[in-house]
Amino acid sequence: MASNVIARAGANIAFIKYWGNRPGADNLPLNLSISMTLFACVTTTAAALLDENASGDEIRLDGAPPGEKSAGRICLFLDRVRRIAGRKERARVTSQNSFPTGCGIASSASGFAALAVAASAAYGIRADAAELSRIARLGSGSAARSVPGGFVELHPGSAHEESFAEPIAPETHWPELCDLIALVSREEKPVSSAEGHRLARTSEALAGRLAAIPDRAGRVRQGILRRDLALLGEAAEEDALSMHAVMLTSRPPLIYWSAGTLEAMRAVYGLRKRGIEAYFTIDAGPNVHVLTRKKDAVRVADEIAREVGCEVLTDHAGPGARIV
Ligand code: DP6
Repeated sequence: MASNVIARAGANIAFIKYWGNRPGADNLPLNLSISMTLFACVTTTAAALLDENASGDEIRLDGAPPGEKSAGRICLFLDRVRRIAGRKERARVTSQNSFPTGCGIASSASGFAALAVAASAAYGIRADAAELSRIARLGSGSAARSVPGGFVELHPGSAHEESFAEPIAPETHWPELCDLIALVSREEKPVSSAEGHRLARTSEALAGRLAAIPDRAGRVRQGILRRDLALLGEAAEEDALSMHAVMLTSRPPLIYWSAGTLEAMRAVYGLRKRGIEAYFTIDAGPNVHVLTRKKDAVRVADEIAREVGCEVLTDHAGPGARIV
């Protein structure tokens, strides 16, 4: 067996969400997205090539073989990597999340970014950061954004070559900015993002959302570059609600929120009324991310934990995917 390559990547939280893709197997998003790569929520993945006579990939996630769906998705991804490398050997992949498995934090962004880096190196692919981001996107659209660190933009593109992520600002740019994650529910989402991206095309709200994104993304970029939390937070909140409007108006509709989601949103509005800068954003699930300043983080986390009755994790900007 060839030598083991170990890579690590952070999850990310999107301020402008990716929701809706082009038909096909390349995860080409319909819109640009902008996110912050996270520091504490990380995946560490080891990849090694097996002997030529091995009949399949050997995969372990958090110490156990993955379910059928995850295993299939990872093998398909490894097939894409093998095709790019022009090689046939199967691989052994061992992956560990820093955050509790199945706690409702998307692990596919950090997971596929770490796997893209580890597997590309194991198969001898010489790829720069843009190419690694394209490869990660083949596993999960949002994983493309976990290849660079700090503040990141994913170009949608209409072909594989055009769709990759690039940094907007490094991880050290805004140390005051925190992402608090209210773990409203630990259940697995009933409808996958992959299915949601397809259903987005059935929503009457999608055209309005796509038309609004260039202006909103401008405000998000300026908010990041000027370290202006109100500018970033208002635009990020607006974008999350716009994405959920698309979900709610898909056919069939997708409702990812629970009672705790609304409680957390109300808690954020309550904090803002009292002059504390906090803004929510929500992915394809019930958990609520709250953007706030480091100096207010303990107070905001305590208040949300008390009002919603849930655990709250604290994170901030982190580095990009790398070999460790
Ligand atoms: C709502 O297709 O990247 O988080 O691979 O299932 O994790 P999975 O999702 P992906 O879609 C991400 C959707 C989102 C918004 C975002 O992160 O941009």
